[in-house]
Amino acid sequence: MPLFEGLGSGGEKTAVVIDLGAAYTKCGFAGETGPRCIIPSEIQKPGLQQPIRVVQYNINTEELYSNLKEFIHMLYFRQCRHLLVNPRDRRVVVIESILCPSHFRETLSRVFFKHFEVPSVLFAPSHLMSILTLGINSALVMDCGYTETLVLPVYEGIPILSAWEALPLGGKAIHRELENMLVEHCTVDTDSSKGRSLPTVMGSIPEEIVEDIKVRTCFVSDLQRGLKIQDTRFNLEGTAERPSPPPDVDYPLDGEKILHIKGSIRDAVIETMFEQDNEEKSVATLVLDSLIKNIGLFERKVLSENLVIIGGTAMLPGFLHRLLAEIRLLVEKPRYQQALSTKTFRLHNPPAKPNCTAWLGGAIFGALQDILGSRSVSRDYYNQMGRIPDWCCLSSPPPEAVYDAGKAAPPLMKRAFSTEK
Ligand SMILES: Nc1ncnc2c1ncn2[C@@H]1O[C@H](COP(=O)(O)OP(=O)(O)OP(=O)(O)O)[C@@H](O)[C@H]1O
Ligand SMILES: [Mg+2]
Repeated sequence: MPLFEGLGSGGEKTAVVIDLGAAYTKCGFAGETGPRCIIPSEIQKPGLQQPIRVVQYNINTEELYSNLKEFIHMLYFRQCRHLLVNPRDRRVVVIESILCPSHFRETLSRVFFKHFEVPSVLFAPSHLMSILTLGINSALVMDCGYTETLVLPVYEGIPILSAWEALPLGGKAIHRELENMLVEHCTVDTDSSKGRSLPTVMGSIPEEIVEDIKVRTCFVSDLQRGLKIQDTRFNLEGTAERPSPPPDVDYPLDGEKILHIKGSIRDAVIETMFEQDNEEKSVATLVLDSLIKNIGLFERKVLSENLVIIGGTAMLPGFLHRLLAEIRLLVEKPRYQQALSTKTFRLHNPPAKPNCTAWLGGAIFGALQDILGSRSVSRDYYNQMGRIPDWCCLSSPPPEAVYDAGKAAPPLMKRAFSTEK
C-alpha cells in the first residue's frame, strides 16, 4: 500500500483488483504496475488430499459460495501477506471472462457484499481491460489461458459479443496431452532399477509436475517444423520425415527418481494448439473466424492490425511467432481469402506479461476513482436489488443511476460498459 494514499486520493483507499482465473488468481491494488501475488485458484479442505479448484461452474451454489468465501478470505488475510487490508474499506474490481455464467458472478458478489461487506464491486471483462493497457480503443483480443482460448473483438471500446469465438484449448489441454505422451513414451530410473515405464513407478503424475515439465522443457516450433511434426504424427505409413528433435531432458521427479523426457515430446506437445481438429479449427482459425463474423470490412482491417494476445499459455516460447505465421498461411486459403478483405496482421506488445495484462488493465481502470465509483455496483444498490446487473444486459438499469450520478465519464469508459453500437 502506498504510505500516504489518504492524502493523494482524496481519502478513498485504492481498490483491490482480482483476476480470478481458472488456474491462477492475480491479486493486488489499483494503480500499481503488477499484481502483489499470483496464486493457484485453489483451497485446501480438511480431510481431502487434493486441493479444490474454486473456479468451477458445475457445482451447486452453496458449495461454490463456501469455496469462494474461503478463497477470498485467504486472499485478504492469509496467503497474500501483501494484501492484508480491511475488505470493508476498499472497492473491488473483478476481472471476469465474458463467458462466466451468471450464477458464478452472482455467488461471487454475494460473497463480497454479504460476507465481506465491501463498498462496491465492478465486474470488468478481461478482454476489454487488456486494451486499456495500450491506450487503444479497438483490438481483436485473444485470451489463451488455462481452460480455453477465447477471441473477442473490441471496437471503439465496445466488445462485439456476436463475434466471439472459443475452443477448449489452453493450459489444461496441453497438460492432458503432455501427460499422455509422458506415460506412453518416457521411462524412469530409480535407485534400484533403470528404464521402468512411468505408470509402474507412479500411478499418475500430479498436474503441477506436468505443468512444471511443460514450462521448463516444452516450446512451440516454427511453422515449417510444426507442419512436418504434424505430418509425421498422422502419417501412418511413415513416409514423412520428422525434423530432428531437440535433446532429451532428465527431469528429477523426487530425490531418487529421474524421468527421461524424450526430445520429440518437447516440440510436439504444443502442436495440439495449432493442429486443426475435425471441424478445421485451431487457435489460429479462431482469430480469422471471429473477423469474418458480423464485422464490417473497414472494422476488420482495424482489428486485424491490432491483435492483442493475453493469457499465460501465450508465454510459451515461440507461441506468438507461430500464431502469426499460422494466420498468414491461413489467409491464403480459399475459405478466408475472399471473405476477409485484409492480409495485414500485427501484434501489440502490452506493457505486462500476457498472464497479467488483463489484471493491469483492471488496475488502471480501478485507479480512475471517479469513473470507478460510477461504474461499480454499490453495496446499497445490491442490498436494495438483491442482484447485480449484467454488464451486457440492456434491461438492467445502469448502476450509476443509484449513486454518484452526474459525474461524466470519458467516452471510452462510458462506452466500455454500454452495449450501444
Ligand atoms: N511462462 C510460462 N510459460 C508457459 N506457460 C505458462 C507460463 N506461465 C503460465 N503458463 C500457463 O498459463 C496457464 C495459466 O494462464 P492464465 O493465468 O492466463 O490462466 P487463468 O486466467 O488462470 O485461466 P482462464 O483464463 O482460463 O480462466 C497455465 O496453464 C500455465 O501453465
Ligand atoms: Mg484468465
